[in-house]
Amino acid sequence: MILDKLKQLFGAEVEYQEIVVDPLLYEKLAQANHIVALTGAGISAESGISTFRGEEGLWKKFKPQELANLKAFMNNPSRVSDWYRHRRDIIDNVKPNPGHNALVKMESEFKHVTVITQNVDGLHQRAGSTNVIELHGNIYRNYCINCGKRYDFDQLPKKKGIPICEECGGYIRPDVVWFGESLPPAAFNEAERSAASADVMFSIGTSAAVYPAAGLPRTAKAHNAYLVEINPEHTDISLIADDTVREPSGVALPNILHQYQEWKNSSEN
Ligand code: APR
Repeated sequence: MILDKLKQLFGAEVEYQEIVVDPLLYEKLAQANHIVALTGAGISAESGISTFRGEEGLWKKFKPQELANLKAFMNNPSRVSDWYRHRRDIIDNVKPNPGHNALVKMESEFKHVTVITQNVDGLHQRAGSTNVIELHGNIYRNYCINCGKRYDFDQLPKKKGIPICEECGGYIRPDVVWFGESLPPAAFNEAERSAASADVMFSIGTSAAVYPAAGLPRTAKAHNAYLVEINPEHTDISLIADDTVREPSGVALPNILHQYQEWKNSSEN
């Protein structure tokens, strides 16, 4: 039974569904040396983590200018710290979904797979992806805004309020990229290099509303990558994509990988 096989490979939550893609994708995958996946909040939606701009999105409930920038943190460090503690609690209680798991499986199917993520939830690494570039940081990492001392999440006091640096008494903030801040240069340069050397790029679960991350699919296209968007909704990336899959990534990715393996087996026989 296909579903049993999919459940073994991608997790019990996986659904079997024929995903309509241009068969050219299979040829591109078979010839590919480097597969790159650019992911956004949408890939974690089926794990139970809100996206930012969707119907129940975080930015519909909260004002980013009051929570996700340095000025807001300095104005009200306790509120911002509690909000990130709340988000970490949510992430702690969910697990990667078949979309994350499919990207892990791709590592054993293809020579070189890179995941470039805008997500700060660490779910790609928790699923087992070994080559992840975090463009917007990680919610489990923290540092003192004064002396720069680094703190892992479990070193922080669990109680409400502002985490204080034991070295200098400064405020400790999450190591995530806030609005108005630039991306970590090393991560972004590596992401640009990966996009430029991609043979196939999947743009997964991102509204492509935030730059410079949203420019990476264009970099890949400019270097002749075959670009597939996986997103139930239209985005600016849809305009330049070679193919678009209007399905949730937790359904699309495992089924596309399975269909590719079927195609490969049938073309080898
Ligand atoms: N599978 C695939 N895509 C999905 C799914 C799903 N199950 N559910 C929702 N989506 C799509 C939505 O249609 C939307 O286009 O995911 C996208 C999520 O978009 P955003 O909420 O804007 O998230 P993202 O693109 O990751 O935001 C970029 O903005 O707020 C900042 O720093 C934050 O990293 C974030 C950046």
